[in-house]
Amino acid sequence: MRNFLITGGAGFIGANFTHYLLRNYTDIKVVVYDKLTYAGNLDNLLDVGDDPRYAFVQGDIADADSVAAAIRDHQIDTIVNFAAESHVDRSIMNPDAFVKTDVYGTYVLLEAARRFNLERYHQISTDEVYGHVPVGSSKETDPLEPRSPYAASKASADLMVNAYHITYGLPVTISRGSNNIGPYQYPEKVIPLFVTNAMDDVALPLYGDGLQMRDYQYVEDHCEGIDAVLRRGQIGEVYNIGTGSELRNIDMTHLLLDTLGKPYSLIQPVSDRPGHDRRYSLDVSKLKALGWQPRHTCAEAVVKTVRWYQANEWWWRKIKSGEHYRAFYQRLYAGREIRT
Ligand code: NAD
Ligand code: TYD
Repeated sequence: MRNFLITGGAGFIGANFTHYLLRNYTDIKVVVYDKLTYAGNLDNLLDVGDDPRYAFVQGDIADADSVAAAIRDHQIDTIVNFAAESHVDRSIMNPDAFVKTDVYGTYVLLEAARRFNLERYHQISTDEVYGHVPVGSSKETDPLEPRSPYAASKASADLMVNAYHITYGLPVTISRGSNNIGPYQYPEKVIPLFVTNAMDDVALPLYGDGLQMRDYQYVEDHCEGIDAVLRRGQIGEVYNIGTGSELRNIDMTHLLLDTLGKPYSLIQPVSDRPGHDRRYSLDVSKLKALGWQPRHTCAEAVVKTVRWYQANEWWWRKIKSGEHYRAFYQRLYAGREIRT
């Protein structure tokens, strides 16, 4: 595992993982392969732009010729697939791109990995594939019961990855991460959305009763977990990655506002997301047995994330003032009923 193709590497977690690899290993090459959708942003990779071990290729993971050319041109031996449509609310509004990228795109990458005899194919998956978890925590062997079009597209990809291992002997691993937060997360996901709204004294649209629970993990911990799976995980296996604890959305929002010194009156309860999963929870003991530990609790991750957005207005103001973002915001939130 020397020459990495990081698909979706211009997005939030992929960019953090690219930084992570270049910081922690010397004798490697990291090629980011990304379509640059609304979520792809070369600002996320400015810091590594001059590194001779880094290269960028613009391309679609669903385009087999372009994927093959990138693998050939850069003698890739490992694919880590972060590329996806990743936002649940967008999947509810329009699932089409989710099927094309998350399902068909994953299939194209698997075919390429098979054809070029790659050393490893690693799939970045999510806790959302297990569906809503009222009590207890999901183990890797639990059934997949996805409920949103996003979660269903990611679960489909996991099944295909597993099938390529069983049928063709492809050396695959899968990791299922909980909600990531930290630098460079597009301000559509709840925490960067709420932090940046609150900084501008704009209302925070809290869905439903706000009692939904998520395991908010710091993105750097997730990157270390992925690395642990790549180095020490067993081929053909799935590993959960998260803090192993959860925060209620209302408590996360209070903590975020306290950290910013902003009033709770900014919270605006709005109509719920259709099919909203109330709780995800991961059992992370399998990865811990490989020697990995998360370094941040959910609360520490929230505070650190708030600080990053306070210090990096240049990054998010560019996005939020853009045409695409403004149209998206209008479409998702303008018609939402206010709850009192
Ligand atoms: P993101 O939306 O920030 O970034 C996705 C990246 O993929 C973007 O750079 C985009 O341009 C690229 N992309 C989209 N379609 C593409 C295509 N067809 N070809 C090539 N590139 C394409 O997403 P993220 O939050 O960084 O998530 C990365 C991965 O991690 C996804 O697979 C997601 O399902 C998974 N995941 C995310 C979270 C989370 O909390 N964000 C948690 C667990 C798992
Ligand atoms: P999100 O960041 O979209 O991640 P996911 O749904 O994939 O877990 O949402 C996290 C939680 O925050 C989820 O319970 C939905 C809620 N949420 C809001 O209350 N308001 C919002 O505007 C958004 C985007 C999410």
